[in-house]
Amino acid sequence: MHQELEALLSKASYVVAFTGAGISAESGVPTYRGTDGVWNKYDPAKYADVGYFFQDPSYYWHFFKDVRYPVLQEASPNAGHHALVDLEKQGLLKALITQNIDGLHQEAGSRNVLELHGNTRSISCQGCGRSYGLDEARARLEEEHPPTCGDCRGLLKPDVVLFGESLPTDTLRRAEEESRSCDLFLSIGSSLVVQPAASMPAIAKQSGARLVIVNMEETPFDGKADLVIRDSASTVLSGIQGG
Ligand code: APR
Repeated sequence: MHQELEALLSKASYVVAFTGAGISAESGVPTYRGTDGVWNKYDPAKYADVGYFFQDPSYYWHFFKDVRYPVLQEASPNAGHHALVDLEKQGLLKALITQNIDGLHQEAGSRNVLELHGNTRSISCQGCGRSYGLDEARARLEEEHPPTCGDCRGLLKPDVVLFGESLPTDTLRRAEEESRSCDLFLSIGSSLVVQPAASMPAIAKQSGARLVIVNMEETPFDGKADLVIRDSASTVLSGIQGG
């Protein structure tokens, strides 16, 4: 186990974890930024912007068909996700704030998960509100592109927060509360560039928590952190499990 992280954990009584795409990278889910990031191939202004979604949803649904669906079909939680489950079971990890929309924390068994950006495994009709699962939406896509609701022909949209949309108010409020309450904040696998999610480490730090950043690349918050570990999330977190 990483010694400095071990020392910080042994002194902590209220740990909050904050995760980004990097924790799911080892489950085969591509990150957004960086060389292999999906936003290098798909322009987020077209594929992830709410205004553009309603103007021409076919872009998003191509992305769903080519990237999201096949990846989510295959992905399962990795050692990093499982280690956070153990930390919660031990009673040390009180909340897990995630920007991820892949549902892998819940699949691993984490319970108090605050999804700031929604979950792409659930899809809703914008007309009548009927909810569709991943496979059902994929099946609708075989019928028509972009897919509409089998009941009312309303447009289907994933239950995720696209650029230009507000974050779910209650989840954001609870995430801010948890960030204020913790004495150790672990930011794992996030570039920390997307607001307001990226304000959580700052809130924690301003409230007196120790801040640890585990990420493969530099982040804008590294200078404010008590500890920066540039290693893979699963390596660092499974160290916690073993320690
Ligand atoms: N372990 C740790 N970190 C990793 C790993 C790994 N195995 N693999 C990649 N990383 C790091 C990368 O170095 C990168 O800095 O994870 C970070 C992922 O950054 P982003 O792709 O920007 O993902 P994230 O921070 O979650 O993005 C925030 O942006 O477009 C949106 O809504 C989307 O929720 C997402 C938000």
